[in-house]
Amino acid sequence: MARIAIVGAGAIGSVLAALLQPTERHELILCTRRPLPHLHVDTPESSIDIRYANLTTPSQADAVDWVLVATKTYDAPGAGTWIEHLCRQGAPVAVIQNGVEHRERFAPYVRMEKIVPVIIDCPAERRSPERVHQRGPAELFIQADVLGHAFAALFDGSAAQITLTADFLSAAWRKLCINSAGSISAMLGKPAGVFLDETIGKETLEVVRECAAVGRSVGAILDEDLPQKVLNQYRNFPVDSVNSLLADRLAGRPMETDARIGTIVRYGRQHNVPTPRNSLLLALLEAI
Ligand SMILES: NC(=O)c1ccc[n+]([C@@H]2O[C@H](COP(=O)([O-])OP(=O)(O)OC[C@H]3O[C@@H](n4cnc5c(N)ncnc54)[C@H](OP(=O)(O)O)[C@@H]3O)[C@@H](O)[C@H]2O)c1
Repeated sequence: MARIAIVGAGAIGSVLAALLQPTERHELILCTRRPLPHLHVDTPESSIDIRYANLTTPSQADAVDWVLVATKTYDAPGAGTWIEHLCRQGAPVAVIQNGVEHRERFAPYVRMEKIVPVIIDCPAERRSPERVHQRGPAELFIQADVLGHAFAALFDGSAAQITLTADFLSAAWRKLCINSAGSISAMLGKPAGVFLDETIGKETLEVVRECAAVGRSVGAILDEDLPQKVLNQYRNFPVDSVNSLLADRLAGRPMETDARIGTIVRYGRQHNVPTPRNSLLLALLEAI
């Protein structure tokens, strides 16, 4: 039995709770900004009422065995306040977010070697603060080291599809390449149907090529045909499907522009890899 605190009970935090609960091996503590009296997750297989303790004040939090952070990347400072209290006895922190800077983002709040970076593939959205819809399976990519294995073991007996990889860097940059294409539809304010346009398709390939070139410059191993595969993937989505950057823009929420585009531009600058299209997308989306 592990005491597991989930910081951020949005779409992904709720999916993680819905994966862990059926194992019946853990005590779940949901750390939220507002009281959350009920939480219900509709998964592809079933409907799950989550059983949990709810905390809204970091200073009231006792030490736990694991902290799972599932806030948006730009909410790291708020999550850091929870970590300070929850990790009093040295608990590890799994960061389940997009981007490639999981460790750097949380280094101000917890020792680097206690951080487990996790990439999740899982289409999910909040229907209301108390109800989350998980539209497909949840696949987690984790570095195959001691803490990575320990984190994966929390999900033994769950529906999570876990990939422990010796090359997490490449897994994270591969996901960033997929996300980089999404910034075009966020910029246009239009769902996946825009990728069927020939000119947009060509520009998308260039945006993803820039991201892949930057990833390779920092050591990621990415197939040459990855940009084409990413474009094909977006072209195969239903024409009305909305990626999370676009969803945030349409809802008037902040966007994860820094973690998803800023990173490409910054690392590109550091490693002398030109990123003109990503730089333009970053400037335009930040101006919005
Ligand atoms: N959704 C997807 O399909 C998906 C798929 C793959 C990866 N991801 C990645 O997963 C990460 C989480 O995304 P998401 O879609 O789950 O976001 P989300 O639905 O917006 O959930 C984020 C949650 O964090 C909470 N939060 C923010 N600051 C907090 C604080 N200081 N204390 C406690 N809770 C706090 C928010 O609370 P409020 O309710 O108060 O705002 C919200 O409930 C992102 O990096 C995203 O890119 C998402």
